[in-house]
Amino acid sequence: MAIDRFGRNIHYLRISLTDHCNLRCIYCMPEDQTFRPNAELMQDDEITQLTHLFASLGFDKIRLTGGEPTVRANVVEIVREIAATPGIKSVSMTTNGILLKRLAGPLKQAGLQRVNISIDTLDPQKFHRLTRWGKLEQVWEGILEAERVGLAPVKLNAVVVKGYNEEDVIDLAALTIDRPWQMRYIEMMPFAGVTDVQTQQIVTAAQIQAKIESEFGPLEPTGKYDGEARIYRIKGGRGELGFISSVTVPFCSACTRARLTADGVLRMCLLREKEIDLLTPLRAGASLENLRQLILDAVWNKPWGHGLEEGYIPLNRAMNQIGG
Ligand code: 5AD
Ligand code: SF4
Repeated sequence: MAIDRFGRNIHYLRISLTDHCNLRCIYCMPEDQTFRPNAELMQDDEITQLTHLFASLGFDKIRLTGGEPTVRANVVEIVREIAATPGIKSVSMTTNGILLKRLAGPLKQAGLQRVNISIDTLDPQKFHRLTRWGKLEQVWEGILEAERVGLAPVKLNAVVVKGYNEEDVIDLAALTIDRPWQMRYIEMMPFAGVTDVQTQQIVTAAQIQAKIESEFGPLEPTGKYDGEARIYRIKGGRGELGFISSVTVPFCSACTRARLTADGVLRMCLLREKEIDLLTPLRAGASLENLRQLILDAVWNKPWGHGLEEGYIPLNRAMNQIGG
C-alpha cells in the first residue's frame, strides 16, 4: 500500500496518454497551443512498465486522460495492457467523446469499464464557441455509442464558464429526467495558458445548483459522493446530478489520487507545481526497486491540498499537459 504522511491511501492513478487534443476548449488551452513531440511522451511499453510498478504498490484504479486520450495511437492496445495488469481492478477514461462513435466498442472489448464524456452545452453553436473546433453532434453520437456498448453508467462532465454556458446547465440537467445518466458540473480551476478566463469567468457549484433549482425546484440530496462529486437528483428523475466544487469546497482530505503526465512525470496534486520525473530514470536504466522508492517517496510527500484560497495558482503546465 502507498500511504502518505497524512494517512491517505493513494491507490488511484490518472495516466495522461498524450497532451495533444482534437479540440481547443477555451478553459483548457489557448488556440495556438503547441504540443510535445512524441519521443518525449511515454512510449507504449513504458506505460506498461510503469503501470505494473504502480500496481505492485497497491494502485488498483486507473483513469486514462489527456489532452484527449483517444487521439493517442494504439489507445485500444494500451487499454488492453493496463486492464490485464495483475492488481488493476478498474480502468476508465475521461474523453471529449469526438472519436467514441468508432472507438467505444473496441475500447469496451479491450477492458475499459467506464467513460466520462465532456459536454458543456446542448447548443451546437455554443458548443463550437466553447471548444473552438468541436461539432456537438459527434459528441452526442459518441455518448449514445458508449451507452450502447455498455460503457456504463454514462457520466457527463460540464465545465461552466460565465458568458458561455451558465444558462445551459438547465438543459443538461434535464437529460437526467428520463435517462439513467450522471451529469456532473465542474468548477473551473486555474492553470497556465488561459489563467484569465479561468479566474475571472468561474461559476461556483453553489451558483450552478441555484440555477438548476430555479428550474426544477430543490434537488434531492442522495447523501452520496461519487469520487469528488456531491450527488443529487431531480425529484422523480432517473439519473443523477453531481457537483464538483474543487475551488470553493475542496475535497483534499479524501484525495486518493496521483497523476502521471504524458511525459512520464508524477504529479501528486493537480493544483501544485511539484513533480517527480519517472521517465528519465526509467530510460536511464534505473532498477525497479529504485523507481518504486521514487514513487513511495513522492506519495509520502503528497501535498496536503491546494492553495487556491491563498492565491496560489500552479503555472508550470496548462491543463492538457497535466491530465484532468
Ligand atoms: N477546470 C476544470 N476542469 C477542466 N477541464 C479542462 N480544463 C479545466 C479547468 N480549467 C476538464 C474537462 C474535462 C476534464 C478532462 O477536465 O472539461 O471534463
Ligand atoms: Fe481537449 Fe479536454 Fe482540453 Fe477540451 S478540455 S481542449 S477536450 S483536453
